[in-house]
Amino acid sequence: MPYTVTIGREREMAEVRALLERRGDRLISLVGPGGIGKSRLAIEIAHASADLFPDGRYFLPLEGVFEPGLLLPTIAYVLGIRDNGEAALEERIARALAGRRVLLVLDNFEQIVEAAPLLVRLFDVAPEATFLVTSRTVLRIRGERVYEVDALPVPDEAARGGERAMRSAAVALFVDRAQAVKPGFALTDENAAAVADICRALDGMPLAIELAAAKMRVLTPQAIAQRLEQSLPLLTAAARDVPERHRTMRAAIEWSVSLLPDEQRALLEDLGVFARQFSLEAVEALGAGRAWDGQALDGIAALVDGSLVKQTEIGGRPVLSLLAVVREYALGRLREHGEAGRMRAAHAGHYSALVARVAPGLRGAGQGDAVVELGMELPNLRAAVRHLVHIGRLDDAGDFAWRLLVYWWIAGFFGEVRVWMLELLGKDQPITPHTRAVAWFFALWSELWQRPTEEVVAGLGECVRLFGESGDRDAAAMATAARATARLQLPLPDLATAERELAEAVEELHELGNAWAEAITEVSRGRLAWLHGRTDDAQARFDRATEVAEASGDLFTLSVAGNHQARLQLVRGEVDAAEAGCVRTLLVSIRLHFEEGIAYGLEGLCAVAAARGDGERAGMLAAAADAIRQRVGVFDAEAFTVHTPQLDAMREAAPAAVAAGERRGAELTVAEAIAIALPDEERDRIAPALAQW
Ligand SMILES: Nc1ncnc2c1ncn2[C@@H]1O[C@H](COP(=O)(O)OP(=O)(O)OP(=O)(O)O)[C@@H](O)[C@H]1O
Ligand SMILES: [Mg+2]
Repeated sequence: MPYTVTIGREREMAEVRALLERRGDRLISLVGPGGIGKSRLAIEIAHASADLFPDGRYFLPLEGVFEPGLLLPTIAYVLGIRDNGEAALEERIARALAGRRVLLVLDNFEQIVEAAPLLVRLFDVAPEATFLVTSRTVLRIRGERVYEVDALPVPDEAARGGERAMRSAAVALFVDRAQAVKPGFALTDENAAAVADICRALDGMPLAIELAAAKMRVLTPQAIAQRLEQSLPLLTAAARDVPERHRTMRAAIEWSVSLLPDEQRALLEDLGVFARQFSLEAVEALGAGRAWDGQALDGIAALVDGSLVKQTEIGGRPVLSLLAVVREYALGRLREHGEAGRMRAAHAGHYSALVARVAPGLRGAGQGDAVVELGMELPNLRAAVRHLVHIGRLDDAGDFAWRLLVYWWIAGFFGEVRVWMLELLGKDQPITPHTRAVAWFFALWSELWQRPTEEVVAGLGECVRLFGESGDRDAAAMATAARATARLQLPLPDLATAERELAEAVEELHELGNAWAEAITEVSRGRLAWLHGRTDDAQARFDRATEVAEASGDLFTLSVAGNHQARLQLVRGEVDAAEAGCVRTLLVSIRLHFEEGIAYGLEGLCAVAAARGDGERAGMLAAAADAIRQRVGVFDAEAFTVHTPQLDAMREAAPAAVAAGERRGAELTVAEAIAIALPDEERDRIAPALAQW
């Protein structure tokens, strides 16, 4: 949410609200040139329409999303859906949105306007959802209701006095922003004409007005008006290649930048390589050899003062960003100077180093923190991969993706990685066998779970070979485990081969000290033993996985192994042990914000409640878990449901109690469901973590 106040726009808000209320138009596009205030308006509308969308309003910044193939993964990510593969994603989104009255704000859609037909499909599959899109261009799709966003009204020439001028939103915006840099500034009869001139010269474009007002730190309104009068016509004429109001905006940015000292100008241009958010440390890291090296802090402060860089806070950390038009300007300048490639390389280098530093933590005790940190940096991680692919450093892109394997897994992000890897493979450039193996591995991953075929098994076998050939035993062992898991998923599973391969992989991974992969592979071994009906053996495998994960502090595998263990205990009638296990996995999953794990934990406790004859509690926990499953998109992981037989039996015995529980459970938030599921002491201990949920 922006720090500054929104000025005017009452009419626009009312008109768009009327459209939303009618519910006739399910896709409204706010269209207008950069800097006119589309995003701002969309945010305000979303805020003011909580009553129309009781099931949530989601903001999807699409600024850094250039590949149309990433539209659905991005929507899925914002909705919290685990994306394990492209094919089912549309259905997952449909399920997540089914029956929910939600508003999805898709901001800066012009970047992927070719993906517009996908929106039409989403409409059909999510009939309760409404889409509010901001875009510089009309989408031209069925069902689109175009709403043209105008600039802010400016005072007419006749409005000379301060009072009357103040009634125009453009002037009010100028005054508000001027007061931020020059406390005590007020509109008077003396300066009102100059302020009105400024607003008119800038066509009422909000961003242009903000940039001009920022100069009030050093200039009077009269001086600003005068300078604009001199420079703007020239700057505007120079920008002949762009549509009209956009020209004013570009000219205003150029004018604003022209008043900066050289180092700050150079700094702003370099910031064009970042994705929408970035940290001061990242800026500093890119300084080597640049004119502004060593002055990043002061430079950024000056650019923030000048309204060219925005500063906000996320989770208590300061976060910097550029508005889209400003970034385009900056990147354009970088390109003109022939410096873009160099800065992209520096950007990619910095984030590669960050990944190299953070990734090892993913395999053990640092997992929770690493997941949070990588989540914060996601827009730049994406940009870095794209830079690497663009500048032809495909092997570095492959390494980058591979190091984050555990993160993609935990965050449920394989669909997007797959898009990158297919792009990399499509580049038709020489790559190392290792990179080829990585790219295929990610490309096959989703199919492994969704529609495993002999080809998937063979493809993973090729990954094993290529990794082996590259001398990466660790990766080869992980690919071996993945291939064996694929064999398990086949319609006619080849259990004997899978068993042998899993055993080999575990031994190798243990020897190599890759505890994370060892533990998760032990889980696969346990599943296999269970399929064979060797439940003692299966339990031993799950115990071993838990032991290894516990020793290394790997919460993810603790959750996965713990849930398997508990399911098996339930099947064996060890109800108390299963209950203790599910409580543990719930606690672990909460720490990792791993909702899929939470759903499984709740289902385990549902079965426990059913076994003890508590129909209402069983119904409640089942419904709460189901809501999570639908939302995060794991509804089809049927192999993992264990509570249904017990729940069905309970439904038979006490239909009214179960139904009452289900009604209540469907209304619960995740935090409420957890609070009900946990015993008192555990609930109290976890309360602080739950409060932030
Ligand atoms: N009504 C308003 N009141 C106050 N500030 C505004 C208003 N409208 C826009 N702004 C400010 O003007 C700047 C540009 O607005 P915004 O980012 O919404 O433009 P946009 O049309 O989305 O541009 P782009 O197409 O580049 O994304 C922002 O700093 C925004 O906060
Ligand atoms: Mg915008």
